[in-house]
Amino acid sequence: MSAGNLLTDHPALYEARFPDPDRLAGRWVEDCLRRYDAGPRVLDMGCGTGRDAAHLHSAGRTVTGADLSEAMLSYARARHPGPSYVHADLHGFDLGAFDAVVCLDSSLLYCHTNDQLDGFLTSCREALTAGGLLVAEMRNGAYFLGRTDLLDNPKTDSFTWQGTAYRSRTTLTVDRTAQLLRRTRVWTADDGSPPVEQRSAWRLLFPQELRHLLAAHGFEVLELHDGPGPRTEPPWRESELPGTTTDADRLHLVARLHTL
Ligand SMILES: C[S@@+](CC[C@H](N)C(=O)[O-])C[C@H]1O[C@@H](n2cnc3c(N)ncnc32)[C@H](O)[C@@H]1O
Repeated sequence: MSAGNLLTDHPALYEARFPDPDRLAGRWVEDCLRRYDAGPRVLDMGCGTGRDAAHLHSAGRTVTGADLSEAMLSYARARHPGPSYVHADLHGFDLGAFDAVVCLDSSLLYCHTNDQLDGFLTSCREALTAGGLLVAEMRNGAYFLGRTDLLDNPKTDSFTWQGTAYRSRTTLTVDRTAQLLRRTRVWTADDGSPPVEQRSAWRLLFPQELRHLLAAHGFEVLELHDGPGPRTEPPWRESELPGTTTDADRLHLVARLHTL
């Protein structure tokens, strides 16, 4: 069995598997930015295929998309032009001055350790102008308190892409010591290639822990809620206001760097 990440190594497949034809995520971010009068310069950390960065660019913003994956960055430059796309690690970066940092679809949870979270928030603080915003959307660690529905049974999925039929079997486990949600996904294809095993992990970040971290780094939390958002069910619709609970499986954050 070989190792790899079928989805992030193939950005076109990633977009096909997680379609967002109405650019809901980008529109949701733009709505948050407007609600708090954010300036025009936006950094999208963990920008992936670049579709959200490009949406913000089309809304008139000056956008930088940053990611660790060269495959994602090349795809973003070719398919979602407008923003500038740069290689950077969200654990620590120095990419200039911004009015907002955006971190979507659990990219922030690739900060696994407390040091990495501190590195991310320190970099955000240095990048943001006074009063700048941090907008993030991710899994909610608190969802797993007392719920095992996502952990109980491996999930199987199948689809055909470019003439090849793929099957995946996904297992999620909670590592309580590291406070990580670990995912093992095994892909098999009908083209004779060997199975591919992909391992990922996300930090299980709890709402009150996040509030504490943000306060320690000089941020005021403006919104922290479980929806509606671009990946909730039902999904967010234009002009819907943020909720007040943090119980369901997605977490949405808008925080502002204190002005001195
Ligand atoms: C789930 S994808 C989300 C992509 C995009 N934000 C979206 O919402 O479609 C997570 C992205 O984070 C990137 N990533 C993972 N670890 C990273 C790190 N340490 N620094 C920067 N990007 C990272 C991956 O390459 C991938 O493109």
